[in-house]
Amino acid sequence: MKIRTEQAGRTFFRNGRDTNYFYAVKPVDFTLQEGSLSVITGRSGSGKTTLLHLLSGLLKPSEGRVWLDDNDLYALHDRERSRLRSEQFGIIPQGETGLPSLTVLENVLLPVAMYGKEQDKREQALQLLEEVGIGMLSDVYSNELSGGELRRMSVVRALVNDPSIIIADEPTGDLDEETTVSVMTLLKRRAEQGASVLIVTHDKDVLAYADRLYNMDKGVLTAQ
Ligand SMILES: Nc1ncnc2c1ncn2[C@@H]1O[C@H](COP(=O)(O)OP(=O)(O)OP(=O)(O)O)[C@@H](O)[C@H]1O
Ligand SMILES: [Mg+2]
Repeated sequence: MKIRTEQAGRTFFRNGRDTNYFYAVKPVDFTLQEGSLSVITGRSGSGKTTLLHLLSGLLKPSEGRVWLDDNDLYALHDRERSRLRSEQFGIIPQGETGLPSLTVLENVLLPVAMYGKEQDKREQALQLLEEVGIGMLSDVYSNELSGGELRRMSVVRALVNDPSIIIADEPTGDLDEETTVSVMTLLKRRAEQGASVLIVTHDKDVLAYADRLYNMDKGVLTAQ
């Protein structure tokens, strides 16, 4: 599936600025290509996470549209948008996420558990956990994991449903070089198999995997 913005932008309100409304993302035309891995870099506060939220159906643009193939994502009924999101999107959010009362395997199977497909996906989940080096932690509660282990858990959770669109915010943020290679190899392989992959990163090691490179500066996205 292809995702595309048409002059989509987002303003936020903030007290104490000269103009109270400011653009976190200036209106932009952007197409996330299928079968390709795109990378966005840019300084802290430049609007990268906000753009990812617009693209992943989590945050309505204040102007413009976001298209998922022929669907205007934000014109859809909430329930329809949620269904598309859970079927088509694999989202790796910024920061540490996970339900502490579940084990690692239960956490990564959560997105498919809603559809009663946990049993079908169990083997694949275990294999993915193995690939990113945390196979031995599958039965551990997620509140016992380190930052980098949690990060890898959220990578596996995003991939287990075989999404056609993968959106990752700093997926290698707290990983060492070797672990970064295993995570990026997984994401690159998904792109080669046809997925549309978008990664926001500050990590120079990730740039080598990019088919397309963009920079974000004060809300303005530019192709490099
Ligand atoms: N809900 C919100 N309300 C008001 N301002 C917001 C909100 N979310 C983000 N912002 C502001 O919008 C700007 C862009 O934020 P965003 O999170 O997109 O930056 P970023 O490029 O992802 O930064 P980082 O690299 O630090 O994660 C920042 O100035 C931020 O303070
Ligand atoms: Mg961010």
